[in-house]
Amino acid sequence: LTDHFSPGDLTGSRILITAGPTHEDLDPVRYLGNRSTGKMGIALAEAAAARGAEVELILGPTELSTSVPGVTTTNVRSALEMHAAAMARWSDCTAGILSAAVADYRPAEVAKEKIKKSDGALQLRLVRNPDIAAELGASKRPDQLLVGFALETENGVENARGKLERKQLDFIVLNSPRTPGAGFGHDTNQIQLVDRNMVTDFELKSKRAVAEDILDRLVAVKQTR
Ligand code: CTP
Ligand code: CA
Repeated sequence: LTDHFSPGDLTGSRILITAGPTHEDLDPVRYLGNRSTGKMGIALAEAAAARGAEVELILGPTELSTSVPGVTTTNVRSALEMHAAAMARWSDCTAGILSAAVADYRPAEVAKEKIKKSDGALQLRLVRNPDIAAELGASKRPDQLLVGFALETENGVENARGKLERKQLDFIVLNSPRTPGAGFGHDTNQIQLVDRNMVTDFELKSKRAVAEDILDRLVAVKQTR
């Protein structure tokens, strides 16, 4: 941790971070969700604040939270809420780091009353959620940097580069899906940083140390601008 920690190198930055899962309601008591806990995004928020950034953390539904100075948390539930919160803050930010596991689809309608079972199968119709990363990318100014995340089970670098282009990201954090101890719910993570020209491999380490590696790259890219 300490060999990466560079006090103050993010002073003057305002960083939008999305984190956690989204919950897409089916009825008053049920939702579609995923296993993200928000740990990686919270680690990023705390690390960025410690390096001097003002952080706007947009956090999906999770048990976890943070209360360090420099981090302002907006709690949201669904992808639509996360989208609205992110779009409202983006123009005031110098960078965005999109670690949230945003549901790609939501139920076409939310039942007003609890859905009753009946004989036979239940068909759910799902509709597409907005792509927050792609929309932020489409409205990105030259002074803003945008970082995405991806978890791929096959063709990781190739798929990550496709997302980099489509969403106009500056680089992407590729999570290793099969490393023991990495990913959802764990305190450690193993990543690759992927940009147009380069793939950089990192060791399995604490999410806080991974956050410092990501922020080191952000600072390095900023310095080349
Ligand atoms: N993302 C987002 N809004 C969405 C979906 C994804 O902001 N509605 C962001 C994620 O936070 C992540 C990046 O986009 O930083 C890539 O997410 P991922 O789910 O890997 O990409 P998708 O474009 O949804 O492609 P896939 O079909 O592989 O899920
Ligand atoms: Ca997705």
